[in-house]
Amino acid sequence: MQWKPLRPGFGLAGRIDRTLVDRVGVNGVESLFRAGTDDYWMEQALIESMNSVGISAPNPGVGCVIVKNGRELARGHTQAWKQAHAERMAFHALPQDADLEGAEVFVTLEPCSHTGFQPPCSDLFPGRGIARIVVATVDPDPRVSGEGLRRLATSGVRVETGVLEPEVRASLFPFTKTRGPKKTVWVAKWARMPSGHLADVDGNSKWITNAKSRAYTHWLRQKYDAVVVGARTFLVDRPALTVRDCALPRQRQPERVVFDPRGELLSLPESELECFRVLVCNDLLPEPRRDGTVFVGMDATPESPDLGLVFKSTLESMNFEKPLQSVMVEGGARLLRTLFESGVFDAAHTFTGAQKFDRLSAREWLESGPGAGFSPCTHHVFDEDVLQEWVKED
Ligand SMILES: NC(=O)c1ccc[n+]([C@@H]2O[C@H](COP(=O)([O-])OP(=O)(O)OC[C@H]3O[C@@H](n4cnc5c(N)ncnc54)[C@H](OP(=O)(O)O)[C@@H]3O)[C@@H](O)[C@H]2O)c1
Repeated sequence: MQWKPLRPGFGLAGRIDRTLVDRVGVNGVESLFRAGTDDYWMEQALIESMNSVGISAPNPGVGCVIVKNGRELARGHTQAWKQAHAERMAFHALPQDADLEGAEVFVTLEPCSHTGFQPPCSDLFPGRGIARIVVATVDPDPRVSGEGLRRLATSGVRVETGVLEPEVRASLFPFTKTRGPKKTVWVAKWARMPSGHLADVDGNSKWITNAKSRAYTHWLRQKYDAVVVGARTFLVDRPALTVRDCALPRQRQPERVVFDPRGELLSLPESELECFRVLVCNDLLPEPRRDGTVFVGMDATPESPDLGLVFKSTLESMNFEKPLQSVMVEGGARLLRTLFESGVFDAAHTFTGAQKFDRLSAREWLESGPGAGFSPCTHHVFDEDVLQEWVKED
């Protein structure tokens, strides 16, 4: 499927302003649409859905707004995995005496039609006098995939689809990809100087981008299940890889992983590797380090031509608290290049910052985007920085 460029203000994280520190909370985000239009209410549902970031996976984070006579009655978003979906939350939030005769419901994803951990959401609407349900996009989950809409239509509820569809589909990423044949979605993220370099040779270039770009990145860290860096990045920058400086809710930290084929981190004290899992080539992993708590073996050598794919399959087969639906690789250039050559990535976020540094080397250089086979979707300016996002064509 072709991914269309999104309207300004939207990205793979949703409404971009909602992710920033200086605009905390739903009420702080200025609408991009005329109040009362379908686009306006769907944008509100999308903003509501962003409260599910980090908790709803592997379920999609959905938002729902119930409106009557141009006034909002209630809104809701998907709760933690196995708990209530957005539509049910919005119905729970209705005032006790609410009369739904003639009301309209805006929901980002088609209401589900099957019983999982929760009863079907499509059963909530019939018989309540609701005038219409507006849905942004059909659920790609094969258990639903149009069935929820059919159930609503046959029960006599008027259903419309497609409002703000590309923007909602993008914000639902990676859910919109994992419901195909793939299980884990891989995303690249890097920041370049205007020259295309990702680092200087002196280790002074830890931050190339400004605070807003970094806040957006921190939001992405809770959107994706795991965050990866290469061993050299770990040793030079000592990144915490945590969610800190973005807008609330900041509901979870991602799994944090270091790609270390040469075992360069083996000599570090364990206290410096707390919260990290480090993947090392098997032959370089000494016996006492093989218990899998911090270090995990990869069945390859640093010279193996398929090292990128072995890393991918090793990480995907590891046991984490929840199924690993998505992985974001934050560099450096050497790791990103290896994974691009193996065709691992499904999407990319790139920032071009204004900061310049001396003493650059070709080893640290990367293109401005992922290249052929990826559709550009986002172009956003954070003051002097530029964010671009791409998704691989299906
Ligand atoms: N601007 C950004 O977005 C950004 C993001 C992250 C990091 N950085 C900067 O990038 C620099 C470090 O990046 P880097 O590219 O040198 O290293 P890296 O990607 O962070 O680390 C990769 C590590 O894996 C090893 N390796 C062995 N075989 C490999 C293979 N086949 N493919 C890939 N790696 C392999 C590398 O060692 P060998 O190279 O010896 O093989 C290296 O130790 C730091 O200065 C950091 O500040 C910038």
